[in-house]
Parts: sequence; C-alpha cells; structure tokens
Amino acid sequence: MEKIKKTIAILAGDGIGPEVMACAIDVLDAVANKYNHEFTYKEALIGGAAFDVYAEHCPKQTIDICKSADAILFGSVGGPVDAQNDPKWQACEAKSILALRKTFDFGVNIRPIKMFPALKDNSPIKNERIVNGADIEIFRELSGDIYFGEHKRFVNKEGIRCATDVAEYDEQTIRHIVRAAFKRAGERRKILTSIDKANVLDTSRLWRDIANEEAKNFPDVTLKHMYVDNAAMQLVLNPAQFDVIVTGNLFGDILSDLASVLPGSLGLVPSISLNKEGFGLYEPAGGSAFDIMGKDIANPIAQILSAALMLSYSFGMHEEAIAIDQAIDQVLAQGFRTADIAGGAESIGSKEITQKIVTALIESALTY
Ligand code: IPM
Ligand code: MG
Repeated sequence: MEKIKKTIAILAGDGIGPEVMACAIDVLDAVANKYNHEFTYKEALIGGAAFDVYAEHCPKQTIDICKSADAILFGSVGGPVDAQNDPKWQACEAKSILALRKTFDFGVNIRPIKMFPALKDNSPIKNERIVNGADIEIFRELSGDIYFGEHKRFVNKEGIRCATDVAEYDEQTIRHIVRAAFKRAGERRKILTSIDKANVLDTSRLWRDIANEEAKNFPDVTLKHMYVDNAAMQLVLNPAQFDVIVTGNLFGDILSDLASVLPGSLGLVPSISLNKEGFGLYEPAGGSAFDIMGKDIANPIAQILSAALMLSYSFGMHEEAIAIDQAIDQVLAQGFRTADIAGGAESIGSKEITQKIVTALIESALTY
C-alpha cells in the first residue's frame, strides 16, 4: 500500500480536552503504524487556552492552521461553571465553536447515537424500551436558524428591557442538509424523520415543504414528519423507531443532547461537522468537564470515536475506522470501564483504557 499522508489540526482546547486528545492521538499513531499511513499533527489553541495567549477565543493563527490541514480534530472548550463571568470564560464556547462553524461554513452536523452491546445496562432508559437498541444518526443543520440571525437587546419606549433573536432559513440551506440526510438514510434503514415545529413556525413550514420536495428524489426512503415536542418524548419512549433524523440548528442542539444519554454516557458520543467541500471538524459531543480535569478519569472514547470518524469521512480510511470501533467494542466486552460507565464498580483511567484499545487494535486481524 502506498503511504497516505494527512495533516490534522489538533485543537485540544480546555478542561479534559488535552487529556482525551492525547488518548486519541495514541490511537491514531497506532493506526498509522499498522496501516503504514503518516499523520502530521499541527496543534493550535482554541477557547480559554487561546484567550490566555491571544486575548481571543478563536485567533487567526488557529484558523490558518485549520485551513492548512486536511481535517480538524477538536477537543472541548469552556471553563468551570462558577467562573463564567471571567472574560476568559465568558461565552467561550460560542466564541470558539460558532466562530469555527461560521469561518468554515459547516452546514451539516452529524451526531451518531449508538448503543454499545456491552453497555446496554448503562442506558438510563429501561431495557424493555430499548430492546431493539438505538442506532440513530441526527443530521443537524449547523449554519442557519436562530443561531445566526440578528441578536439584539434593547429598551423599548416604555423603558422595558427587551431582546430578539431572529430565526432565518433559506431553501438552499435546508435542501443541502435534507439531501445529505436522505442520502444517508438510503444507505441505512431507509427511514428519515424530519423534525420541526410546523404548527407554529414559518421556518418549519418552509423546512417541511423542502423535505417533501426532496422526498420525490429518494423514493426508496420513507419520510416521516414529527413535531419537536413529540420527538423529544418519542426519543425517550421508543428510540428504536428512529433511523436518520434531520432537523434545524436549535432543535438539533437540544435533541442531540437528549439522545446522547441513550448510550449511557456523554463520554461515548462523537460529532461530525462538514462543509460543502467535504472539509470536516470532529469532536466529542461532551464539554470540557472541568470538575474531572487532570484526574485521568475522563472517558476518552468519544474523542477516539471522533478520530475514527475523521479517518472514515475525511480520509476515506473505512477499514481503519472499523478497526477502531471493533477495538473499543472488544475492550468494553472484556469488562474494562472508565468511571462514568462503571456504575460504581471497578474502573480504570483514561490512559489505561486507551492502552487497552491500542493493544486490541494492534492485535486485530483486520489489515490490508
Ligand atoms: C453544541 C453546543 C454548542 C451549540 C454551543 C457550545 C454553542 O451546545 O455543539 O451542541 O449550541 O451548538
Ligand atoms: Mg449542544
């Protein structure tokens, strides 16, 4: 096999970001060794870590490094809960993540929610509700909606403080994400659930029109519409009914957090953001978790899975990504757990579980 060379922008960020990133890099190094690839890591500062050096959360230096890379592997940003008024931490998540999303025009966000066979008892949902497991991909529109419309605070004529946030969508933006979700559903169980609030919102009525129009191009996929309030309930009552979900930015934000508890820990859920050129950012769904920082107890699996998704989506290294998934499954099946998924029983640290995953990967039969 010819050596494939890729450059990865490493934005470890704050809190547990750097420590779980180190775990993901150990796994990437093992992949490079086993499959004869070459990964070059270019580290860049983001979030509070960037603020310390540049007095900005997403400096130009970081953007330039991202632009020169083949993909971005992101850790997490944000400060301790009780330090949110410190300028270093004030709106840190928004100023880092939203700036990156805007700069690279990431319109498609995919959050795969999968139960791990070895962890089925970890789900907070009763076993009989998830007998068929849950294997959902949430396609969240990431570039529009109330996130990027005008935000305004003002005092009205009566002297009352007011605020408005404008939710805005155009048909191209909706079509782009809806099409991506239809394509993905076609490769999976062929059910696409579009989630909106079309009983109230015009943005949702436009969304529904576009989804119905696109359905004609994907006759083998069944399109269902669901109101967001009902969807929140259905995700808890019967998650197995969902295959691919497509929804707007705000609803996707909320529903993906709700769905991410199904596997049993936020530390197990990765996330992909892609732009129209196919350039991608990969990150764990969880945050910087300052309370457990530096204790070697954070679950590195979401960061490792984010790296696996990068291999598959950005570099076309599908076998390698499957090998990582299988190594994780194997280590969990052997009973090894980090504290978040141990349920009070014996657990091992972030570094140790990573070494188990690396060993399983090296020893796996799956090679070219
Ligand atoms: C997410 C986060 C972000 C969002 C925040 C940190 C701005 O919650 O990626 O889901 O709301 O999109
Ligand atoms: Mg969120």
